[in-house]
Amino acid sequence: MHVVVTGGSSGIGFEVAKIYARRGASVSLIARNADRLETARREIEQYSAGATKVFVVPADAAVSAEISAAIKACEAAHGPCDILVASAGIVEPGWFHEQTAKAFEAQWRTNFTGVVNTVRDVYASMRGRGEGRIMIVSSAAAFIGIPAYAAYCSSKSALVGFADALRLEAMPKGVTVGICFPPDTDTPQLARELQSRPREAEILMGRIKPRRAEEIAVRLVTGIDRRSAHVYFTGSIAALALFGPLVRPFIEIWYRLKVGR
Ligand SMILES: NC(=O)c1ccc[n+]([C@@H]2O[C@H](COP(=O)([O-])OP(=O)(O)OC[C@H]3O[C@@H](n4cnc5c(N)ncnc54)[C@H](OP(=O)(O)O)[C@@H]3O)[C@@H](O)[C@H]2O)c1
Repeated sequence: MHVVVTGGSSGIGFEVAKIYARRGASVSLIARNADRLETARREIEQYSAGATKVFVVPADAAVSAEISAAIKACEAAHGPCDILVASAGIVEPGWFHEQTAKAFEAQWRTNFTGVVNTVRDVYASMRGRGEGRIMIVSSAAAFIGIPAYAAYCSSKSALVGFADALRLEAMPKGVTVGICFPPDTDTPQLARELQSRPREAEILMGRIKPRRAEEIAVRLVTGIDRRSAHVYFTGSIAALALFGPLVRPFIEIWYRLKVGR
């Protein structure tokens, strides 16, 4: 079995790759920074105690030619991709009126276009073989507007429409498309993000202890094993996903009272 993980050099993607390596799957990791990929490769091979060989290839998922070449290289090394975990993502909190168009677009290009590019590169072959599993990493931020997160929330919620539509196309061809919605998770991304998360966002999100990346990875992989369409991780995220249109107006009233406007 060949598992390709974008964003596999760090955080959630790295922990997912470790699980598959322990299972003896062939694992490929894609991210932009070659040194971090190489470190991840060594750590995962050590962790798997020789059960796997990890292939790494640097590429920017937002650049279609780069990610296509990277997927081709992974498949040349380990054979056709059986499972894709699209975990590559970035977040840069910032007030919409202050954030540059470049910073806004960078989040869309990685979080949305990057995922679509990657899925496109594995999907045709999965469809042809009548077998394959895709898991897209979105965020709980897909279900609720968070002040200073307009780029991130919008890019992550767009993934819901993409995954839900593609699932119906892919299902009759034997390909499953899942999407998962992690809460705050203790990763390098969260550490960077917290430095610029404004008070207003904290009010809306509340102070919840971040989950461990290992725990999120276990749930994510279980979702792939079960061919789950949606993985919510917590009861409150499931409630937001299922009853969002009902509860969001009350959350907005509560938020306005809290910030005094
Ligand atoms: N941590 C959280 O609290 C949290 C909560 C909800 C959702 N998520 C989502 O979970 C996913 C993983 O996040 P994480 O917290 O594990 O972050 P992380 O530790 O920063 O890892 C992100 C990974 O994505 C790679 N990456 C970023 N941009 C890329 C690009 N354009 N092309 C290819 N690779 C790229 C990074 O490597 P390079 O920088 O070397 O490219 C890194 O390997 C993201 O989609 C994130 O939005 C995270």
